[in-house]
Formats: sequence, C-alpha cells, structure tokens
Amino acid sequence: MKNISLLMTFASMSGGCGRASTETDVAPYLDEDQPLDIRVEDALSRMTLEEKVALLHAQSKFSSAGVPRLGIPEVWCTDGPHGIRAEVLWDEWEQAGWTNDSCTAFPALTCLAATWNPEMSALYGKSVGEEARYREKDVLLGPGVNIYRMPLNGRNFEYMGEDPFLSSRMVVPYVRGVQANGVAACVKHFALNNQETNRQQVNVVVDDRALREIYLPAFRAAVEEGKAWAVMGSYNRYKGEFCCHNHYLLNEILKGEWNFDGVVISDWGGVHDTKQAIENGLDMEFGSWTDGLTWGASNAYDNYYLARPYLELLRSGEASEATLDDKARRVLRLIFRTAMNRRKPFGSLNSPEHIAAARRIAGEGMVLLKNDNGVLPFDMSQLKTIAVIGENAVKMMTVGGGSSSLKVHHECTPLEGIRAAVGNRVKVLYERGYVGDVTTSYNGVDSGQDLADSRTSGQLLADAVAAARQADAVLFVGGLNKSDYQDCEGADRREYGLPYGQDAVIEALAAANPRLAVVFVSGNAVAMPWIDRVPAVLEAWFSGSEAGNALADVVFGAVNPSGKLPFTFPVRLEDNGAIAMGEFPGDDTVTYREGLFVGYRWHEARQIAPLFAFGHGLSYTTFDVSDVRSDRASLSAKGRIRISAEVTNTGDMAGAEVVQLYIGDEESSLPRPVKELKGFRKVFLAPGEHQTVTFDITPDLLQYYDDTKAAWVAEPGAFTAYVGTASDNICGTVGFTLE
Ligand code: GLC
Repeated sequence: MKNISLLMTFASMSGGCGRASTETDVAPYLDEDQPLDIRVEDALSRMTLEEKVALLHAQSKFSSAGVPRLGIPEVWCTDGPHGIRAEVLWDEWEQAGWTNDSCTAFPALTCLAATWNPEMSALYGKSVGEEARYREKDVLLGPGVNIYRMPLNGRNFEYMGEDPFLSSRMVVPYVRGVQANGVAACVKHFALNNQETNRQQVNVVVDDRALREIYLPAFRAAVEEGKAWAVMGSYNRYKGEFCCHNHYLLNEILKGEWNFDGVVISDWGGVHDTKQAIENGLDMEFGSWTDGLTWGASNAYDNYYLARPYLELLRSGEASEATLDDKARRVLRLIFRTAMNRRKPFGSLNSPEHIAAARRIAGEGMVLLKNDNGVLPFDMSQLKTIAVIGENAVKMMTVGGGSSSLKVHHECTPLEGIRAAVGNRVKVLYERGYVGDVTTSYNGVDSGQDLADSRTSGQLLADAVAAARQADAVLFVGGLNKSDYQDCEGADRREYGLPYGQDAVIEALAAANPRLAVVFVSGNAVAMPWIDRVPAVLEAWFSGSEAGNALADVVFGAVNPSGKLPFTFPVRLEDNGAIAMGEFPGDDTVTYREGLFVGYRWHEARQIAPLFAFGHGLSYTTFDVSDVRSDRASLSAKGRIRISAEVTNTGDMAGAEVVQLYIGDEESSLPRPVKELKGFRKVFLAPGEHQTVTFDITPDLLQYYDDTKAAWVAEPGAFTAYVGTASDNICGTVGFTLE
C-alpha cells in the first residue's frame, strides 16, 4: 500500500547545473544512513507551506497525508491497546468488511498490570507491535495509562491501575516493545481522563501534588524512559483548556520539562479551536467534526482546524511559520521512525507465538482473591461432573467496550476452555444462571452467537441450582461486560454491585454446593455481599483470544496464579476517596478533592479496610518473606540504601510471588500517604527454593512534589521501608534516615 520511490537522483548540491549525480546518490531525507534530524531538515526544506499543513491533520478516519510529490508516505493509525482494530471505511467508523484483518486479542491492560511482571509487558508490546507492523500501521493508539481513580470509570479496563509506580514500570517495556517494530506507541489519554461521564467537556480541577505524584508519572516514564514517539491528548479540560491543546500540559510539561520530541495527536474530535491548536502544542488533528461539516462531507478534512483555517492564518502572517515547522518536524520524525523506516521488521499476525503470548500473559495476570479450603485448583482426577454457570462463560468479550473493540481471529470462551481442558474425563454441565446482555455485535463485528433465552429469571436460577446440586464442583463465571454502562468507553458504570441479579445466583449456588469458585470476567472492582459464603474467588479480567484456555490453566492448576491487584476493591463504593468526597462525576467541573490519596493511599490514610487490597493475590502454594533488612541505617543525599529480604516457597507447588517494597515518610512537612509503592520483584520459585530479593533506594524515590516550590524534594528525616506480598500484608519493616 505504501512504497517509497527509492532512489531519486538530484543535480549535485554544489550549485550551478552541476553534474548529474550517479545512480547511488539519494537525497538525504531518503537516506537511511543519514541521522534522523538531517533527514528531517532536508525533507522540510523541500516542502511547501501547503504540504507542511497537510501533514498535521487527518485525510481519513485513521490516516494523515504524506507528501506524495516527495515520496513521503501517509501515516496510518490504528486502535488499540489490546490488539489491532479491524479496518474501517475511509471516512466512517463502520467496518470496511476486509477479510484479512482479524487479529489476536491480547488481555486488557488491567490484566497485564496485574502480572506485576515487566517481562510480560515487553512480550505484550513486542507481540501487539508485530501485529500492527504486519497490518502496515504506523501508530498504535495505545497504551492507556490513566490512573484508576474510582471503580465506576467505564474505561478502567484499558488502563494499568491506581498506582503511579506500578503503571510507570509496566508501561515502559510495552512502549519499547511496540516501537522495536517501527510502530509508534501513542500513550493516552494525556491527561486526567479518569471518567467517561461528560468526558468531552469536563474541566478537571486537581492540585499540583496529585497531578505530579499520581496522574503524570506513567506518562513521564513512557516518554522519558520508553521514548514514546507519540502521545494522545485527552478530551477533557484542565485549567479550563482542552487537553488536546493545553499549553501547560503540552508545551510546558511534555515538550518542555520532559523533552518530548514526538508528536501530540488529538483524541478523535478533541480539537476545538485553531489558534489554541497552533499555539498550545498540538501536532496532529484527527476525528474533528468542524463547523458546517456533515459526516463524510467531501471537503471535510480541508475544514479541519489545522487545515485551511491554519493555512489562512499563515498566509495572513497571523501564524508563524516557525511554529508550523516545529509541528512538521515532529511529524516527519514520526514518519522516518515508522513509515520510512526501512530497517523495521515485517511483523506477523495471529502467529502461534502471539496466541501463546496472549495465553501466558492472561494466565499470569489472573488474581486469586480468595481460596478457602483449597477449593481451587479443581483436581480433574477427583471430579466426575463440573457445573459451569454464568453468561460470561459463553459471551464474547473481545467485541465491544468502545474503541478497543476487536475483530478477532478466534476467541476461546471460558466454557470452551474448560471443555477443552477436561476432554471426556469430566462431564461439564452448563447453565446460564441469569440473562445479562444478549448483544453479540458491535461496530460491525458479530460474534454469531445467539444469547437469547426465554426462561424467566426464576427458571434460570432453578436450572442453575439443579446443575450445581448434581455436580462435584461449581464454577460461576460472571462479572461485568463490554456493554454500555459496564466496562465500556463513553459512559461510566451506574452501580458498584454486579449487574443482572448475579448476587442472588451466587448466593443460591453457594447454598447448593460448598465447592464453588466465583470467577469474574471484568475490568473493575465490584461489591461482593456474599463473600463470606463463597470459598473461592478469581479475578480473570478481560483476557482476550485465549481467555478460556488461560482460565482452564488456572482453574485446573496447570498454571499457578501469581497475579496481584493493580487497584483496590473497596467493600462499599463510599469507601473510595473520590466517591466519599462527593466528587464524581461532577458537572461542568470535577474536583479531585481526595488529592493524592487515591486507592490504597486513601484507605490507609482513613484506615478503611478494603475488601481486597492493592497488591493482593494468592497462590496455590505458600511463600514466606522474612529477614527484611537494610545495609545501612542512613542514606546520604547522593547515596543509596539496599533493602533486602528472603523469600521462600514453603509449599509443594512451583509458583511466583511478587515481593513489594513500600516507603513511608515518617516526618514530612507536607501530608504524605502512609506508604507508597517504590519497588517490586516477581520471583519464580520451586517448592522449598528461596531467593534473596534486594531493592536499591536512592533519594529520588523518597521525593514528593512540593507545590510551594514547584519542585521535587526529598526531605531529610526518618523513613520506613515496608516489605510484603500485598499493601495489606507487610512481612517486615526497617527504618532508615535520609541525611
Ligand atoms: C476514541 C478514544 C481513543 C481512540 C480514538 C480513536 O474516542 O478516546 O482512545 O484511540 O477515539 O478511536
């Protein structure tokens, strides 16, 4: 689809008519061996004003123009963070109906974050980047790293949880993995897009400390460490300015403090004003519906804010060509890194490696929340009949949820995975239990299932209980789904509890059979009023094409669960800071009154016990973490202190434990959380094996943002290092001082 006129001969640059150069001479911008910025400057010097402006805005739903005259190709973007979206029509959201664009759905990013394993993030980025490369895409519109502020946000499933340190460590390998394929990662949504309600307009008010310590770190890590080539502005406003053209966020912080040399891409329809787009740091405009435009109008793209209106301001001298050149340079840099990068690999699609990666990440991200009496893993040799109950055992979940929806090559549902695992060794009964959402198609993709069921809820329940009674073990597979007002873009959840009357089904199943495991297919915390009557609970996330196989791996013990929660499960919605402070969803403005006390930071400051804590996750084996110690009692301003601990697998099954390091500042002049995550290490141990885990603490990890000085400070005084296997399971502490 895109080829580059490889060799162009030019009269020698020595001026005059010169001698026709030899065949081997190419213009610098076409020469892979030239440094990037030489290529950029050369290309820029050859371009007209119109050609530079054309680079800055869409020409179709997901592409922007190149410079045909110079053989500079178009830029093609694609959703999304979990896999490569099916091709859509030139100027519509509708599917183009291609037959070669089915993909692998990797697990949702909450699942990736729940692995607490940067190696999984590297594998994820590599794999999804290879699929984007194969589909000849230049920009992957992901990953999303907006912080999980409260449990109702419809898009939490697309992000990496409530903690800035975990999100920062997990986003960097993903970005690098994608970009190693010559595909730009476009980290989104920058910034403060923490709810879907009124997302296109809401003005977020947040104090500088929470902004810097909670909401920006993952973006900063993606840019400074991940070297992200693109960042997507968010729809909402901050300080009254739309984030797609926000001077403070884009010019001062992103391009100023963080030295971002890539492209700021608007969210689709996030641009509202030409002059602000010019002056406040936007580089590429997509998805606008500008004045007088109807969808698909022939001249639509000329009317974009950064199209003809921009050209007119340039011609009248009201807009500077220097600013235009900075934008054009950034887009050219993006093009040379991607579309014109002839050294990039060729990628692959739906390969066995990608299927295996999807299954491995899913299995490693599942979180065993509760497992009394060793209900899990189910021992196939001991079972004659299993009853699988619940709509989420059969409902496709790779379809829906908004822009991250996918057309997959295949999706193994939980029921299919269970059946494939047991074969004819165990009889599998299935009962719906309840009817939730019978939708099977989204955005032109149809799962082909018929989920209609005419039974009354009473009958559905009776049938499920009957199956549970005759089974040796029961697996309830429910949770949320990708429908509106569930885990879905464009709206937030309306309730914290499970929808569709699932609580009653779970209660009835618990009464019918004590050997019950409840499995959630979801991307958000939920209430569990029945938790004391259910022995086992597993969070299985939205885990993509291999969901069923990965679930079966964990349920039957082929995989020992090692996931840890990337966000808190409150007992009640009101236990969440944003909700307790009455600041969700706000109206024209939403004020983050809880400040930096997000998630476990809130729970610990207010001593509110969570249902399940940040960092919590059980295993089929047991671990002991002991001998928490430091190599010195004090830390100089330039020094480092080494915190160590011993971790041992004290059980009889191989498994992995995530040793977590939190730091508490015991005497800070500004309020700080009780403790904050500053290190983690996932260790895989055979039964009886032990390992020493070490964390090097340097003063930068002790800093907080002092908004009175607009600076990061590490304040001398006493600190405590907490080492444990969850934020609420600390195995040892050691004090030290910062000189
Ligand atoms: C959507 C989403 C964004 C997505 C873009 C293109 O509105 O906010 O995440 O990448 O538009 O579909």
